Amino acid sequence: MSYQSMPKVELHLHLEGAAPPAFIAGLAKEKNIDISGIFDETGGYAFRDFEHFLSVYEAACTTLTGPEEFYRLTKAVLEESASHGVVYSETFVSPDFCGGGDVAAWREYLAAMEMAADEAERDLGITLRGVVTCIRHFGPEQAKTAAKCAVETKGKFITGYGMAGAEMVGRPGDYSYSFDMAREAGLHLTCHAGEWGGPDMIADTIRDLGVARIGHGINAIKDPALVAQIADSGIVLEVCPGSNVVLNASGGWADHPIKKLRDAGVNVTISTDDPPFFHTTMTAEFNNLAETFGWDDDDFRALNATALAAAFCDDETRAKVARKLEAT
Ligand code: ADE
Ligand code: ZN
Repeated sequence: MSYQSMPKVELHLHLEGAAPPAFIAGLAKEKNIDISGIFDETGGYAFRDFEHFLSVYEAACTTLTGPEEFYRLTKAVLEESASHGVVYSETFVSPDFCGGGDVAAWREYLAAMEMAADEAERDLGITLRGVVTCIRHFGPEQAKTAAKCAVETKGKFITGYGMAGAEMVGRPGDYSYSFDMAREAGLHLTCHAGEWGGPDMIADTIRDLGVARIGHGINAIKDPALVAQIADSGIVLEVCPGSNVVLNASGGWADHPIKKLRDAGVNVTISTDDPPFFHTTMTAEFNNLAETFGWDDDDFRALNATALAAAFCDDETRAKVARKLEAT
């Protein structure tokens, strides 16, 4: 049985990280940019480990030079997501890769993404919202610039603020100014933590950044008291098992902590992170979880409901997506 056709909600998808390698290779050719070193012999992305993954990712981003590229990228990504039954998706978008933090340029990139999202909603029935994301290893000052972009463009499309990048750079509190700015503007908050960092990194992220969701959060499993705290608080984990397995952030599928976290009462959700990098899709994630843990339709309905309840969207959008989930 394949879960391809089941309607799905995805909360953790990096827009640039969802770019198919052939799409990036095509842009590189058009623009005469030599990034041949980031591809393997089959044309896929090639990386050794997480650090190398980040540098391959940033090299791929050098081809995304203007709003038109982001229009095309958003279209391609939403077509792929919709083909896997995704009816609501949230994507991380970074001003650092869209005009370098200049608010006027950022507005133009955003308008292009939003146009593609509106067309996909009309034609494919998939709803997209954007979470402005700072890059941790670019430092706290650039995070403030990203937060300013988020605050200035908060609206129907941009609904959240978050942080990705190299988790072991600095401490969460170094970034509290930008998260405070975003919170005061009414943006919803999420932050990658506990993908590489231990329970202390997750605890500090919750305490110092006041997030409602954690990207990954899998290393919480190493501290039962933290697991209980997360379960009690209702904080939601955006778990990306296929990403964790490929990047070696967890063991293999059988050792992945998502089941233990869920069984302990943590609100877990399922996402793909950067699907072409990890050779995954939402269908593959659901199929692998079904195969590994015996999860069935009822489990996946419950996981979708958890994700929708935690989505950074208004109630009207939530109700509209809920009707799509209930229709099956
Ligand atoms: N940016 C894209 N994918 C990421 C990941 N898995 N962790 C941190 N930053 C990222
Ligand atoms: Zn991520």
